[in-house]
Amino acid sequence: MTRSAEPEERPAVSSPPRAAVGEETLRKDRWWLAPLLTVLGITAWLVYATARVFYQGAYFVPEYHYLTPFYSPCVSQGCDAEAALMGRFLPDSPLLPFAAVSLPFLLLFRFTCYYYRRAYYRSFWLSPPACAVPDGHRSYKGESRFPLIWQNSHRYFFYAAFAISLINTVDAVLAMRSPTGFGLGLGNLVLWANVALLWCYTLGCHSCRHIMGGRLTHFSRNPIRYRLWTMTSKLNARHMFFAWITLLSLAVTDFYIMAVAAGWFDDPRFIG
Ligand code: FES
Repeated sequence: MTRSAEPEERPAVSSPPRAAVGEETLRKDRWWLAPLLTVLGITAWLVYATARVFYQGAYFVPEYHYLTPFYSPCVSQGCDAEAALMGRFLPDSPLLPFAAVSLPFLLLFRFTCYYYRRAYYRSFWLSPPACAVPDGHRSYKGESRFPLIWQNSHRYFFYAAFAISLINTVDAVLAMRSPTGFGLGLGNLVLWANVALLWCYTLGCHSCRHIMGGRLTHFSRNPIRYRLWTMTSKLNARHMFFAWITLLSLAVTDFYIMAVAAGWFDDPRFIG
């Protein structure tokens, strides 16, 4: 009886990148739909957000203290004094967003997010556009070298995003007012829904999950960290959902406050 031949061992690094298949891809489904929708969704959001942060108007409703998250914290000398809880120390310039201190961190937090990396590598960079579809580029160096090695800075942007989520929470608390005292309107529900979703996205971050439960040898000896790790893991499992829904909630919250501030719409009030 002859022994079957041992499978040929190939070094992982120099093995052929894909099987020798004549077709570009054997996939027959609409694999291009997800990358296409991703490009459309992210581009539409970036156009809207850019237009809004440079508009520098209709961002605050003094009567109810509604402040859009795109202008928080408002630190420009052009800010309404009531909206500027942390002071107005940046010059008023049409080229400088009113929240120029927080926006770069939030942008970089999302840009380096593990989910968004997957999304834009696939949809914008076609690297690769989908499973079992060839890469749009001849060489692949991954994130082990400059410039993509900087994606590892994500953990530091997490701390900034955590602090900014706290500021958004303070904004939502301060908005519980009316000209006569305590108040509650539809705008408050919009603000609180946005803040809750932002926390779900931020606390579901892979870096947060690592902070909670990483580097532990025994979960049983760290029950509190284990509990926190379990909670953040549940959010992490839905990270893609929260990544998209928070883009929507941010735009809806901003648009709602713009509509009320511009007088297009009266905030329906339940109290005050
Ligand atoms: Fe997405 Fe950190 S991995 S926010």
